[in-house]
Amino acid sequence: MIKRTLFLTAVLTLLFAPVLQAHEGMWIPMLLKKYNIADMQKKGFKLTAEDIYSINKASMKDAVMIFGGGCTGELISDRGLIITNHHCGYSSIQSHSSLEHDYLTHGFWAMSDKEELPNDGLTVTFLVRMEDVTAQVLKGVTDDMSEDARNRLIEEHIKKLKEKAGEGNNFQIKIKPFFYGNQYFLFVENVFKDIRLVGAPPSAIGKFGGDTDNWMWPRHTGDFSLFRIYADKNNQPAEYSEDNVPYKPIKYFPVSLKGVKKGDFTLVLGYPGRTEEYLTSYAVNMIQNKINPERIKVRQSIIDIMSADMEKDPAIRIKYASKYARVSNYWKKWIGENNGLKRLNAVAKKQETEKQLTDWINEKPDRTAKYGHLLPEYKRIYKAYTPYKLAEEYFYEAVWSMESVKFTSKLAGLLRKGDKFTDKDIESIKKYAKKFFKNYNRETDIKIFKSLVKLYYENAGKDFQPEIFNFLEPFSHFDIDDETAFNLFADVYFAKTFYLNEEKFNDFIEKYSYGSETEQKIKDTPGYNFFYDFVNVYYTKILVNTDKYTNRINRLNRLYMKLLMQADTNKVFYPDANFTLRVAYGNVDTYEPKDGVEYEYFTTLKGVIEKDNPKIYDYKVPARLKELYEKKDYGRYGENGKMHVCFIASNHTTGGNSGSPVINANGELIGVNFDRNWEGTMSDIMYDPDMCRNISLDIRYALFLIDKFAGDSRLVDEMTIVE
Ligand code: ARG
Ligand code: ASP
Repeated sequence: MIKRTLFLTAVLTLLFAPVLQAHEGMWIPMLLKKYNIADMQKKGFKLTAEDIYSINKASMKDAVMIFGGGCTGELISDRGLIITNHHCGYSSIQSHSSLEHDYLTHGFWAMSDKEELPNDGLTVTFLVRMEDVTAQVLKGVTDDMSEDARNRLIEEHIKKLKEKAGEGNNFQIKIKPFFYGNQYFLFVENVFKDIRLVGAPPSAIGKFGGDTDNWMWPRHTGDFSLFRIYADKNNQPAEYSEDNVPYKPIKYFPVSLKGVKKGDFTLVLGYPGRTEEYLTSYAVNMIQNKINPERIKVRQSIIDIMSADMEKDPAIRIKYASKYARVSNYWKKWIGENNGLKRLNAVAKKQETEKQLTDWINEKPDRTAKYGHLLPEYKRIYKAYTPYKLAEEYFYEAVWSMESVKFTSKLAGLLRKGDKFTDKDIESIKKYAKKFFKNYNRETDIKIFKSLVKLYYENAGKDFQPEIFNFLEPFSHFDIDDETAFNLFADVYFAKTFYLNEEKFNDFIEKYSYGSETEQKIKDTPGYNFFYDFVNVYYTKILVNTDKYTNRINRLNRLYMKLLMQADTNKVFYPDANFTLRVAYGNVDTYEPKDGVEYEYFTTLKGVIEKDNPKIYDYKVPARLKELYEKKDYGRYGENGKMHVCFIASNHTTGGNSGSPVINANGELIGVNFDRNWEGTMSDIMYDPDMCRNISLDIRYALFLIDKFAGDSRLVDEMTIVE
């Protein structure tokens, strides 16, 4: 009952309030002092804004990095030791794994610096400083400019600003729009390129619960892995070299063994990728009712086929584990997101916001004259845009999920080079092919192809069918149903597309030359023609339209955002996530997933043992871990005889926040963020303080695994432990 009133208040605050949202928000580090620090301190934070972001002294931002291309990581020693998630280090761990050294299955622990493994292509990126460059970027930009003219001018300014900021240094410079282009920030970044694998628990710990437990609370995943930054002898970023030495950072996180209690202040500092909190009801309606259901349907079909094949054959399980994880991750997220949006009545709430804005606009005739078109235009545009958006989703989710299509796109890239292709191009496609075939099962691809072709045909829309589907026409005269026709088509497709066979491909690529019969041989395959026709549909019928409408929508969004901010000058708005460094703060907290049930804020090793089931792949607990559990040998990492594993808090996070440090009121590391709860996955579109929780690994579990499970105590010794 009390909860319900709280919820109502929260909603009312969301609609009318002049203040900061309870726990909602991904804040800009540079602006904490202005907007957040007072509120943060009120919620328990004991440090200052400069302790998080400063350009004058070492601050937390110097210990947080973009890990690879889509995760966050943080430094935990003065020798460049990084902790991030197991699922963030997964591809590196996998790339070092073979049958003889199966690090995914058995884990990997470097017992000395020398045993640490380099990772080709893996980088980490630190933020050196950021700067508001709105005035420079928008100089000369006017409201009546066309979107194209505006974009051109902005690009010109951005190019110049980047050049200037990059002069005389080796930094990477980025400029990104905020609030739909109402504001721009410049980022100066330092990229390190010699990043070595230091440690990873077995997948049975690091991925415990697998895709079954993914997006769920209560959770028992030991989702962490360890890496180390190496630098040249001047402590500067350098390509891999044997002579490189562990990087000496200006800041790293001390690690706390004190654990967390309900209500404790938590801060997450990391790189959230993308949120859309300020969408209109039209957009939310489209996502919830048109796009998500189709995405879910397509992925469901892929998942059914993959999981049946993986269940049957352990070799296929290995080949498809990573692909399956990728497909199922957002499939599950979208299901949760839609449930959450419906539960929150998100569309109606957005309509309410729009009504209020309309009232505000109509308070003054000149506003009505200038902005009266805004919401009606949204309505019109979304109606026209939806079929194209749906077709685009089908192109990406269905066509692009066919492995044969992805492979063909590489070959098509080679053909596009004409006779200008080089040995390097051939080498790179060979390298790609080797990886591709290593994890390829033709039968699985055929099944998925058959299913997706049909789904596309039935759902993507009449106007977006490729020419190659004309083969269906004669069939229809013979009373042969579409499914049979597509199956026949698929059989011919796979039989005649010779390069989908590793041996044939290798043989062929050795002889390849442009303008010869080898080129023609590709062009004659159904694989190539299928790809070609679809790309044609995509460019001529889909993209031209989605581009046209998104251009208009961008313009409307920019104005809508600006007006929302003008209409409520007391409210502090946070910009949507755009993979720049952000601060989310909240508290350790329980939640009620449904009536009569309250979820505890932490889990323990006992729960791992409870889930243990040698018959279910996701729940096989390693014998050594069971032994440690039996002995209750937790050392200083336990709490009252229990080994805490994960905890939840109310930090507003999203994809990209994986691996982010979870920091206590004193600036010490207490956890590593890795997921959200299913009931809260709509937070990318609408945050609900009652339901949204981020899931973190309790740092003590990581230390216990490093120290007691793996016996790599040198790693714990190099950390600064706060007991
Ligand atoms: N849901 C988490 C995130 O979005 C973890 C994904 C990796 N784990 C998995 N079982 N697929 O990235
Ligand atoms: N698991 C996500 C990630 O990898 C985090 C999230 O979506 O909450 O970034």
